[in-house]
Amino acid sequence: MAEKIWGGRFQESPTAAVEAFTASIGYDIRLAPADIKLSKAHATMLCSCGLLSADETVDLHQVLGEAETSLKNGTFLIDPALEDIHMHLEVFLTRRLGDTGRKIHTGRSRNDQVATAFRIWCRDHIDVLTLNLTTLQKALVCCAERHQGAIIPAYTHWQRAQPMVASQHFLAHVERLDRDRQRLRDTRSRVNLLPLGSAAAVGSSLPLNRELVAELLDFDGVCTNSLDATSDRDFALDFAYNLMMIAQHLASMAEEWIMWSTTEFDFVQLPDRFCTGSSIMPQKKNPDVLELIRGRTGRAVGALMQLITTVKGLPLGYQRDLQEDKIPLFTSYDSVSESVTLLAALVDEMELKDASIQKSIHRGYLDATSVMEFLIEQGTPMRVAHEKVGKLVHAAESAGGSVVTLNDLPLSVLETIDPLLATPQASLAMGADHAARRLRSQGGGGHQSVANQIKVWNDRLSL
Ligand code: ARG
Repeated sequence: MAEKIWGGRFQESPTAAVEAFTASIGYDIRLAPADIKLSKAHATMLCSCGLLSADETVDLHQVLGEAETSLKNGTFLIDPALEDIHMHLEVFLTRRLGDTGRKIHTGRSRNDQVATAFRIWCRDHIDVLTLNLTTLQKALVCCAERHQGAIIPAYTHWQRAQPMVASQHFLAHVERLDRDRQRLRDTRSRVNLLPLGSAAAVGSSLPLNRELVAELLDFDGVCTNSLDATSDRDFALDFAYNLMMIAQHLASMAEEWIMWSTTEFDFVQLPDRFCTGSSIMPQKKNPDVLELIRGRTGRAVGALMQLITTVKGLPLGYQRDLQEDKIPLFTSYDSVSESVTLLAALVDEMELKDASIQKSIHRGYLDATSVMEFLIEQGTPMRVAHEKVGKLVHAAESAGGSVVTLNDLPLSVLETIDPLLATPQASLAMGADHAARRLRSQGGGGHQSVANQIKVWNDRLSL
């Protein structure tokens, strides 16, 4: 009972089962570095407004440093009776410093303390994740750069659509990740406001200086309403949503490359180091890393759902439900950040199988749209051109295998559908390579567009 920092009004200790049920130290120990940082800043502020002496402040800083070391080298004592990391650190201070330790909680509550520690944790991990996303983007831009010579099909509905320079595929993923980084930046701006000084719910009668603490902890400002500051977890949900969106983007990459690595596609040879074998089929090389990146999306989606459900219907002011905010976010962050790092390493080694891609690039009438646009350029109305090329495709398909591509069609067939199709200029619109070369939209999958995009990204990511 003596150790319970809230023990004064209690006659009985909680049962072991209650203690175990309410304790969060098993996971909120991850907030320790943030909690130590904020306690140091809080002590400095208490000193500046005359609530701690200079000596007491030095002692508190010193022992908080010792706690940090002890946590690092694994000698920090964990006791579930002390509930959470905040109580553990306060008791650590009190055991070593007596009454000085008993002053650290002046003008603060665990309600504003945990909100602050969690915001610091989110901010710092947003920063790490942003850097890792940039590394993945750089890897994708390099990959786009080394595949500027390759033409691959673009798919819609998983059906062959039009040819494109392979770089376009990798650059599309760079765009998605860039929006993820923007979302993180936006989330960070709302995360990085200081709850501390809100105390339990309505602030304190002590002359606290919140601006000073904000400055010491690199916050952009202070939360403006104490009741909101101690109960708001929007920031955690924002971060969870950002993580979920990243997970979706990684899963989409993974899905495509899994398909590309099949015998049916044979577009890519995944590095052995990112694959595993089968316990029974000797020939198997399975893309497990990519499959797990795809599968782990479940953790990120689940975490977001968990958080949404936890905060649903909570009134203003701190509620113990909020203790449930950490596990899902930690789980999602760990999973997503691991995936980002692994994927960057995989992309570094990604090589497309040019010869194999070339073997099948003439299939699927990838040039049909190109031929249609050739007719449009010659003055044919779009719908008429569409109809004519549709007939070409039908003629090619009806030839039953002897004619695979549009330029394999006999001149007589081309001429019957439209004499323009039998001209040498028309043949320059036929075939995947020609069709890709004719693409000239800004942002499209043509050579000039991907070269421009690569240049822009190289500048922006300063490779
Ligand atoms: N461990 C709690 C959490 O993670 C902080 C303490 C909340 N305050 C309280 N009076 N029980 O949210």
